[in-house]
Amino acid sequence: MVYESQHPLVKHKLTLLRNMNTEPKKFRELVRELAILLAYEATADLSLKPITVASPLAETVGNELVDKIGLIPILRAGLGMVEGIWEMMPGAEVWHIGLYRDETTLQPVSYYNKLPTLPTVQVCLVLDPMLATGGSAVATCNILKEWGANRIKFVGLLAAPEGINALQTAHPDVPIHVAQIDERLNDAAYIMPGLGDAGDRQFGTG
Ligand code: PRP
Ligand code: URA
Repeated sequence: MVYESQHPLVKHKLTLLRNMNTEPKKFRELVRELAILLAYEATADLSLKPITVASPLAETVGNELVDKIGLIPILRAGLGMVEGIWEMMPGAEVWHIGLYRDETTLQPVSYYNKLPTLPTVQVCLVLDPMLATGGSAVATCNILKEWGANRIKFVGLLAAPEGINALQTAHPDVPIHVAQIDERLNDAAYIMPGLGDAGDRQFGTG
């Protein structure tokens, strides 16, 4: 399933994010805020169990999340999506996956993965602003499934139809949550109209 946010705040902030005149500081703020809004939508189906809670006035039945959540940012650009989401779910674990896209082959190259031997979380949120060819997201889901993760969701900002197709073909069980589905990839496999290079714009390295 692909979920494209229809939330007015998401649409407004995404437009500011695309703007080439948005400076890295503002860009980082927007990535953080959009990540929170999208994670809110992506986690609407998490399971709850009833628990008793005592307010100052009475005992009542409340709810507690059942599953341990893992936030899996794909380095570098996914890093900017972690902190805001983590504030919303402070019990989450953060596991970094280092991948970069080779500029000539467009294939993902893995350079960092410190996952423990056995899975420690039940729900994995893969965080990456850009789903372009889909190579990085597919490779990350492969790594997580080899690890033993069985419930994975992809949370991103922009997706190209090509990336959605690749991820859905390789991992049909992974729902995709994005702010917007863009038109296409250009000849360099950048998302059009897109926002440029999400890593460079966050870290001021462009
Ligand atoms: C970008 C982006 C994704 C990947 C998407 O990272 O953050 O990880 O490209 O492209 P794909 O869907 O075609 O794989 P990049 O490789 O530029 O690395 P960086 O974040 O370290 O700059
Ligand atoms: N990575 C980016 O940062 N931007 C794109 O448009 C495609 C891949």
